[in-house]
Amino acid sequence: MRILAFETTCDETAVCLLDGSRLLSNVVFSQISLHRKYSGVVPELASRAHLEKISPVLGAALSKAGYKRPFFRNGLLNGPKIDAVVFSRGPGLPGALLVSRVAAEAAARLLGAKLLGVNHLEGHFLAYEYEGIRASRRIKFPCIGLIVSGGHTELWKVEGYGRYKVLGRTRDDAAGEAFDKVAKLLGLEYPGGPSVQKAALKAVPAAAGGFAFPRPYMEDSFDFSFSGLKTAVAYRLRDLLGPDFYEKRLRLSPSGIASVCLAFEEAVADTLVHKTAKACAALGIKRVVVGGGVAANLRLRRKFAGLSASAGYEVGFAEKQYCTDNAAMIALCGARRLQARMPAGSLDIAPDLAAAAWR
Ligand code: KG4
Ligand code: ZN
Repeated sequence: MRILAFETTCDETAVCLLDGSRLLSNVVFSQISLHRKYSGVVPELASRAHLEKISPVLGAALSKAGYKRPFFRNGLLNGPKIDAVVFSRGPGLPGALLVSRVAAEAAARLLGAKLLGVNHLEGHFLAYEYEGIRASRRIKFPCIGLIVSGGHTELWKVEGYGRYKVLGRTRDDAAGEAFDKVAKLLGLEYPGGPSVQKAALKAVPAAAGGFAFPRPYMEDSFDFSFSGLKTAVAYRLRDLLGPDFYEKRLRLSPSGIASVCLAFEEAVADTLVHKTAKACAALGIKRVVVGGGVAANLRLRRKFAGLSASAGYEVGFAEKQYCTDNAAMIALCGARRLQARMPAGSLDIAPDLAAAAWR
């Protein structure tokens, strides 16, 4: 089965070709440089950039896969033989989602292929199955899924492909959003996750201990809340630098920034591991799969490795290149759905699409 997939939910324009379990191409154009000066994604700029890039990115994906000169025959594109065209229908930015929707429909019609709309968060979960360019690992069910991205933080019980139950989700900021906002407070570059991680690696643990930030465990539920943690960082900076430190662009010393980054990362990672372990214990499940941009975080990976060693849990992370947004994970959503003969589902874009809306 050969699948062409499109991903434009946020600030990456991505297209890939998946042939069976092997990626023939996987092209990602990141808009980070476009949004950096605003320290966050500007939706209108994102949609425009997707529109400009979707065609060249598709061209690059086709030519990398070896399809140099597609041509038309009997009204169909006589290029690659494609069985299905898959796109993320949500969650994401409305204008950005439309770009994939339109491109995927046009491609499916020209190629005479099936068209499928899938859930972007399911893609983050299934991304674990890639090893290099091959989707050669299989997730074992039942398992607990932890999705930690720029827009979402969700904990799921997963019983099989397409069988997800949401246990908890963030009530305010997503984990990635908290990284991005704390980086902004500290004067670090967007996206905040990689910047905070880089600074934290230079920290002296004893110095970071002075910044013991709260762990928002919220023991009565599986929900998350990271906005209080972000505010705790803001208050510490205000105490150290003065009330209008942000407006005046006052910054801590590099070692102070490193300490805050380490202490913040520790608080986020402890919280994510704690709540995941709690879900595992409550449901009697010892397998965990972690996906999404924040899953690239080294400290989080290390903490989960500790949980795995101490409690005997099997914890799987998507490879780093598949943690942030890409089309390969979207292609896999389509592949697994077709293999399991699940219904094609809706083709409408759904900016607020949630796992609970699945079956
Ligand atoms: O999954 P993703 O590419 O996009 C969404 O679906 O939102 O995630 C992007 C988020 C950003 O908030 C970014 O700061 C965060 O993932 N991120 C990281 C790291 N790399 C990316 N957060 C922590 N540590 C990282 N190494
Ligand atoms: Zn994402």
